[in-house]
Amino acid sequence: MKIHSCAAALAVAVAASAGVRAAEIIGAGPAEFESRCAVCHGLAGHGDGPFAALLLHPPADLTRLSADNGGEFPAARVRRMIDGREAVASHGPREMPVWGRELLIEYQRGNVAIGDPETYVRTRIEALVDYLRGLQVP
Ligand code: HEC
Repeated sequence: MKIHSCAAALAVAVAASAGVRAAEIIGAGPAEFESRCAVCHGLAGHGDGPFAALLLHPPADLTRLSADNGGEFPAARVRRMIDGREAVASHGPREMPVWGRELLIEYQRGNVAIGDPETYVRTRIEALVDYLRGLQVP
């Protein structure tokens, strides 16, 4: 198996240690994006989903994260932004759902078979970060 990035390698390591088939988690990025993110950010990530017009702030164009950051994918910021649990305390309200909390609730509802709650949340977020990395325009 060829591993394309550090994030994928991390997901494999986390998944392996949790006894989960890695392919399930790595493959989760596109499906998760489509079901949870596209409504605002658009299927291709351009910020033009059907819900966008109803928001006060336009959803970010997620294909330009690297381009707008001097060509470097801002993985740490993207990870924090998706998770959202830190930002809630420091920046007040935001329009994007706090995915770290949503994923934790999903874990607690019990339809999950991987490690501890934080490992689960981090692994799911990492799959999304990795997917977004692949969407970047040059
Ligand atoms: C309800 C609409 C909505 C949904 C659903 C949504 N977002 Fe967002 N997102 C936003 C908005 C609006 C912003 C701009 C910042 C803000 O106002 O919160 C944003 C910002 C972001 C950013 C920050 C971009 C930057 O410039 O730093 C990332 C990354 C992101 N979203 C990823 C995601 C991912 C991944 C998902 C799915 C798990 C998702 N979003 C789902 C509305 C949404």
